[in-house]
Amino acid sequence: MSEPTRRHLLGVGDLTRADAERLLDTARALERSLDREVKKLPTLRGRLVVNLFYESSTRTLSSFELAAKRLSADTMVLRASGSSVDKGESLRDTALTLAAYDPDVIVIRHPHIGAPHLVAGATAAHVVNAGDGKHQHPTQALLDLFTIRESLGRLEGVTVAIVGDVLHSRVARSLVEALLLVGAEPVLVGPPTLLPRRIEALGCDVSHSIDALGDVEVVYVLRMQAERMESAYVPSLREYTALYGVTPERVRPGQVVMHPGPMNRGVEIDPRVADSGASLVTAQVRSGLVVRMAVLYDLLTAPGLRVAVPVMEVA
Ligand code: NCD
Repeated sequence: MSEPTRRHLLGVGDLTRADAERLLDTARALERSLDREVKKLPTLRGRLVVNLFYESSTRTLSSFELAAKRLSADTMVLRASGSSVDKGESLRDTALTLAAYDPDVIVIRHPHIGAPHLVAGATAAHVVNAGDGKHQHPTQALLDLFTIRESLGRLEGVTVAIVGDVLHSRVARSLVEALLLVGAEPVLVGPPTLLPRRIEALGCDVSHSIDALGDVEVVYVLRMQAERMESAYVPSLREYTALYGVTPERVRPGQVVMHPGPMNRGVEIDPRVADSGASLVTAQVRSGLVVRMAVLYDLLTAPGLRVAVPVMEVA
């Protein structure tokens, strides 16, 4: 007998435009609760959200944790270091162990592409991908859409330059798909070595010139992902900064600047830009909380997200 199918958020490809817009609307409604003195909502009381993190995280983990708590769910964090993962336990065995607690949602970050899919196949929980290798980071893309919509008042036709290390960035992959899904217009900007070949097949523009920033409404700066670079992709960080660093001179009045964090100040982004009135970086963090509340709420209470992976029965 096969298990009923469950809804997951494994990549932006799991979402229709209507799904994305519903999640953003839900996030907006939930945002109002943040201004109350008592911020907790009873919605997910008695539910269990497990955060399983095999890579370091500040914003993503803290916001999932707080999002679940603000909705009154129980939460558990399992980090790879200090757990039996250190002793060589496989992801599947770790997932089966956690499944014994009957979690409603497992949020997973893992260095390997497809790890969230494996967990979705091995447990009966709803699975949310909080970043798998260079592949996907769908809740980051949703929080970025939310931030842009709140700042500019619309998404349709918004022009966004995504600047820097696209090659190693799951944020860029998810964001390009998400922007295209809602009718925005992404352009990828960076040196040829940091832009995946044939990426324009996704339907976005590509430019190797930093001057392309002049044409857009949103400048989205990516972190130089040194930990994912096996060989030299740029002659030196100093040269990268000279050619592609986002400096005050390269930002024109009226533009907004975003960065998923963590920022390498002085490398991909000048501190004067990061701390300027044009920066939406802290707004992004706040959006992360309400968007993750919306995702948990949607998965557990509303008939929303399309089914991505049929759940296999676990023997
Ligand atoms: C990103 C990540 O881990 O994918 N951080 C985040 O979630 N805000 C981006 C990065 O590490 O550069």
